[in-house]
Amino acid sequence: MSNPLPINLPNKVKIVEVGPRDGLQNEALINGKAISAADKVALIELLSDAGVSYIESGSFVSPKWVPQMATSAEVFEKIKRDKKVTYAALTPNMKGYEAAIAVNADEVAIFSAASESFSQKNINCSIEESIERFAPIIADAKKRNIKVRGYVSCVVGCPYEGDINPEAVATVAEKLLAMGCYEISLGDTIGVGTPASVTKMLQAVSARVPTTQLAVHFHDTYGQALTNIYAALQCGVAVIDSAIAGLGGCPYAKGASGNVATEDVVYLLNGLGITTDIDFDKLLQAGWFISKKLGKQPISKVSTAYFAQQKA
Ligand code: HMG
Ligand code: MG
Repeated sequence: MSNPLPINLPNKVKIVEVGPRDGLQNEALINGKAISAADKVALIELLSDAGVSYIESGSFVSPKWVPQMATSAEVFEKIKRDKKVTYAALTPNMKGYEAAIAVNADEVAIFSAASESFSQKNINCSIEESIERFAPIIADAKKRNIKVRGYVSCVVGCPYEGDINPEAVATVAEKLLAMGCYEISLGDTIGVGTPASVTKMLQAVSARVPTTQLAVHFHDTYGQALTNIYAALQCGVAVIDSAIAGLGGCPYAKGASGNVATEDVVYLLNGLGITTDIDFDKLLQAGWFISKKLGKQPISKVSTAYFAQQKA
């Protein structure tokens, strides 16, 4: 089905699946225990089998700060890799980067913020210091031909500073691009954006970074993620981060809920006639698999509706 709407939208969208990292990093421990590496591996393999071509599969951060990610090395070692899939790792500094390289992460992601207070709470340093920490990562990655993705957090609002000036986002995004990141993912970490604030922010950023090198990353705290994605598509953004079953949140943004659910994003894109190459039924199964492991229902309206239909 082609897009019947009187607006230009991308024909194809790349989904960056962040559930195994951004999702699981913030899931509560069950009886003091983190989700097992084996369950993470099974989830990642279900996602790749569903046709998801980019999976952020873990992070190499301090296990004291983020216990759910302590098994990331084991996960990378055990996944049965599909050549068509990029298995990426989030790395905050050289130590994390070296650990990711040791287990053959295909790509790494570095992360900064448009808010000073959030940067301090999240990675214990200023925005400028974080950028300095990334320089050796990018230099080494270049030598090894490993692509580096950059995140900017708090692109419309910050839990500590409130509204964020779009120019502050553009400044950090431009720096990450100039350093060598091939793509900048703009994160509404606490999910406060609306199409108005998101469009304003995207206009400011795309004046300095080509839209073809931008991705959007919405948490759904205020229920605005899908409508914000639709606004971003209208601005020409064709890379969308999402988490299977709407898992997660951010451990350093109190009250932030999970990322927008991949199932809901793919349903929207299918309806708009935008290709993702993802098998929708297999995607739903991946969401139910991990939700059962976590003892809860997927936070995906689409998934819940399909499940109810099957039972009826
Ligand atoms: P620090 O305490 O400032 O670091 O933490 P340090 O260099 O002083 O080291 C302290 C200890 O941490 C030492 O161990 C280091 O070895 C260890 P000790 O001597 O105490 O035993 N350490 C590490 N261990 C494992 N892996 C590492 C590492 N680095 C140091 N890479 C640090 C700095 C960045 C490590 C810490 O602040 C941290 O891990 N923070 C976690 C940040 C995080 O994972 N946040 C969530 C992800 S970001 C996010 O979700 C937002 C995003 O989704 C976009 C959006 O939604 O907006 C991307
Ligand atoms: Mg996030």
